[in-house]
Amino acid sequence: MPDRPARVVLVGFMGSGKTSVGRALARRLGYRFEDMDRRIEERTGRTVADIFHDDGEEAFREMEREEARALASLPRRVVATGGGAFTRPDTRALLQEGALTVWLKCDLERILARVPADGSRPLAGNRDIMRALLAEREPSYRKADVAVDASAGTPREVADRIVGLLERRTRKRTSVRR
Ligand code: S3P
Repeated sequence: MPDRPARVVLVGFMGSGKTSVGRALARRLGYRFEDMDRRIEERTGRTVADIFHDDGEEAFREMEREEARALASLPRRVVATGGGAFTRPDTRALLQEGALTVWLKCDLERILARVPADGSRPLAGNRDIMRALLAEREPSYRKADVAVDASAGTPREVADRIVGLLERRTRKRTSVRR
């Protein structure tokens, strides 16, 4: 596929499947997969939950921005972001550089079924908390270049939808140029 973006960046709420879809998509595209949360954990030697607990959310958001800056120079990557990364304007701008950004749109019921209440996601809470946080964040997720329905289907099927979108965008651009 000519004219592919350097990076495909997956954004969306906790439990929308960014990691599993990202892995499947990276395989399909022959790109490397990067998970922002895992990169932060590897760099700091601490879990996301510990960082939130010991240093607070703002310190974590700063780490996300640093990761976004580091990723902005890496070619052929599929990036799974943490659910709050795209809501921060400066981190969002870095993630958008040279990338196709994709919102994995997922309904609340599916999210609640997928997010375990095991303390690994410090901002996960009960149904009302999750509904309010999702509503607050949707305007940011809408800023992604495209939205894909991630409520139904396997990670591979969702990845296939994204490949379809990429192919259509590439065809459109190629035909405009001619
Ligand atoms: C967060 C989502 C998490 C992780 C952190 C904060 C959020 O990532 O970055 O717990 O603010 O929604 P996932 O979306 O991968 O769960």
